[in-house]
Amino acid sequence: MNVLLIGSGGREHALAWKLAQSPGLHSLFAAPGNPGIAAHADVVALDVTDHAAVVAFAGERAIGLVVIGPEAPLVDGLADSLRAAGIAVFGPSAAAAQLEGSKSFTKALCDRAGIPTAGYARVTALEQGLAALDRFGIPVVVKADGLAAGKGVTVAETRADAEAALRDLFSAPGGEAVIEEFLEGEEVSLFVLTDGEAILPFGTAQDHKRVGDGDTGPNTGGMGAYSPASVLTPELEQRALDEIIWPTVRTLAAEGNPFSGVLYAGLMLTAQGPKLIEYNARFGDPECQVLMARLEDDLLDVMRAVAEGRLGDRAPARFADATALTVVMAARGYPGTPEAGGAIAGLDAAEATGARVFQAGTRIEDGTLVAAGGRVLAVTATGADVRTAQGAAYAAVDALDFPTGFCRRDIGWREVARAG
Ligand code: AMP
Ligand code: GLY
Repeated sequence: MNVLLIGSGGREHALAWKLAQSPGLHSLFAAPGNPGIAAHADVVALDVTDHAAVVAFAGERAIGLVVIGPEAPLVDGLADSLRAAGIAVFGPSAAAAQLEGSKSFTKALCDRAGIPTAGYARVTALEQGLAALDRFGIPVVVKADGLAAGKGVTVAETRADAEAALRDLFSAPGGEAVIEEFLEGEEVSLFVLTDGEAILPFGTAQDHKRVGDGDTGPNTGGMGAYSPASVLTPELEQRALDEIIWPTVRTLAAEGNPFSGVLYAGLMLTAQGPKLIEYNARFGDPECQVLMARLEDDLLDVMRAVAEGRLGDRAPARFADATALTVVMAARGYPGTPEAGGAIAGLDAAEATGARVFQAGTRIEDGTLVAAGGRVLAVTATGADVRTAQGAAYAAVDALDFPTGFCRRDIGWREVARAG
């Protein structure tokens, strides 16, 4: 089968690497791709916002499956345009992708389906928001509604910070915000494939959102991750499936809006049990890198089962018992303005250690690999336990020669502390 992969990040490099191992794959194309993805796929210069062009390309190249990596094309309805043309897609419709694209959509769904989540108020004007703050304690969480790419969330430690966040959101006309109760606990990510009816649990991970060691500094798209995350015990995972995932899948299907693709649930493990913080309608980046490093199943085969509504026939997904850990190398300045153009060398030396270097924001300039984005590389290793995986990932990081890059040195610290 010919496959078209949409996206250009470290997540998509990991997906391309895994898809390329599938015996059922004939040709892999990627749009827009990156130099790392180009090792596994024919990179094509398609404008993915031009749905007609993507549909036409899929027809010309006899594409049997389109895999959509990032959220923006999902929310933009690319999956709908492709399905309307009779092309199988891994990824939800625009309507179902509102789970990620609209916080108020997800909150309203939680209400209808009785899903445990933080108490909230949806507000459409500043005065209304300021008044609603009285109903919440401190800390309180203020979120923009809509796709904010990991930004747009303020965990306010003081009333003044909460007010400032609201003023910021309503500084332009048409603002919408969700104010939320602060949930106390440890965060964990649960991935579940669904074809709209059946579900297939697809691994757990923990991300590191802050830019600095010890979880300090501003939020980022994610500076590293590991999988599995033992804090989500089998018992807690079952509760999350029963109380959060199943009601979501069933309610959306019953309402004529089935979700097909991967559900990425951001959970808070509170004293009362798992509560939903947010949904994403795609794999996490860099969580996908650690999931793919552990996945033993044929990725193309399982994605086809999702796209074709055959997930109910499948056995549980198989993941290696090993721990996988990925360290993101970002360009100096990230998450502010990252320094572009810094040379990257030593990839072979890093991979000679047994690790895998997934590329995110890179490009080739005059025959050299250089940085071209905030998050540049995701250096990924596996080991029998988290300590071994962490040691292996940092050994590979240290073999790289990327002077304008930096990374956190403590990825996996919670799991290392738990391991004792
Ligand atoms: P998001 O961009 O929605 O992933 O939110 C960013 C981060 O804000 C999350 O990963 C959490 O650490 C934090 N957060 C969001 N909502 C809450 C909440 N209700 N209680 C506590 N922390 C939250
Ligand atoms: N690493 C967080 C995300 O992909 O949203």
